[in-house]
Amino acid sequence: MQCRDKIFFKAGDIVIYNDDFLTTECIKENSIDLIVTSPPYNVDIHYESYKDDIPYDAYLQFTEKWLKKVYKLAKDDGRLCLNIPLDKSKGGQQSVYADIVAVAKRVGWQYMSTIVWNEQNISRRTAWGSWLSARAPYVIAPVEMIAVFYKKRWKKMKEGISDITREEFIEWTNGVWTFPGESRKRVKHPAPFPLELPKRCIKLFSYVGDTVLDPFLGSGTTLVACALYRRKGIGVEIERKYCEIAKNRLIKEGMILQRRLV
Ligand SMILES: C[S@@+](CC[C@H](N)C(=O)[O-])C[C@H]1O[C@@H](n2cnc3c(N)ncnc32)[C@H](O)[C@@H]1O
Repeated sequence: MQCRDKIFFKAGDIVIYNDDFLTTECIKENSIDLIVTSPPYNVDIHYESYKDDIPYDAYLQFTEKWLKKVYKLAKDDGRLCLNIPLDKSKGGQQSVYADIVAVAKRVGWQYMSTIVWNEQNISRRTAWGSWLSARAPYVIAPVEMIAVFYKKRWKKMKEGISDITREEFIEWTNGVWTFPGESRKRVKHPAPFPLELPKRCIKLFSYVGDTVLDPFLGSGTTLVACALYRRKGIGVEIERKYCEIAKNRLIKEGMILQRRLV
């Protein structure tokens, strides 16, 4: 099938491909300035057809495949903001963050830093293990990580326009970000991140007019941020139903069509 047929929605510089990111041929190599994404976490979230509960080794192989692919698509000064959990407890304890960072480095990504997203989600604090006993207590950190990488050089090769304010720059260069998660009910997706996350990554790490990719678009949050902050945006999502949700969010929250009419 041609790329033209994979386009689910396009308006101006924003495009959604309904495709499998691992096999898509719709994005040019060396063309992306910034990748902002949250891949499937392998914690048995019920997506429409994607199986989010595979053996951990297979999950790391999948991780390696897509990290290699985004590496090829990034420009030499391209950056990657990767939102992943710190730990996994469902189906056995795993150091997900540490393992994914190791895979990213192995496929060529240069490590820059990590932002701790303090999600303050205390509702997850139900699994204590052995209550009030040292027999087998469980420790759970109510945070997620945003690991930041670059392809070959951190300093951007071209000059450009930054739209970050003084206050935002001072606050966001402190690597603990505190803001709440998104409501699954509101955006009708089982694992969305809040707009604040791609908004901060985009304003801090890219220029106005840069090209931003989300290979696991879900409900379209990254593209909404691209539309609001004038970046070119490419999103890939395997599920048609989520493409539809992303399109509707772009129209409502990204005001994408209205803006083209004025
Ligand atoms: C954690 S969610 C992303 C949520 C998104 N950040 C948001 O704010 O809505 C991961 C998404 O990846 C999609 N997905 C899984 N495998 C994929 C693949 N091979 N190619 C493209 N999308 C895929 C799933 O359908 C799911 O919507």
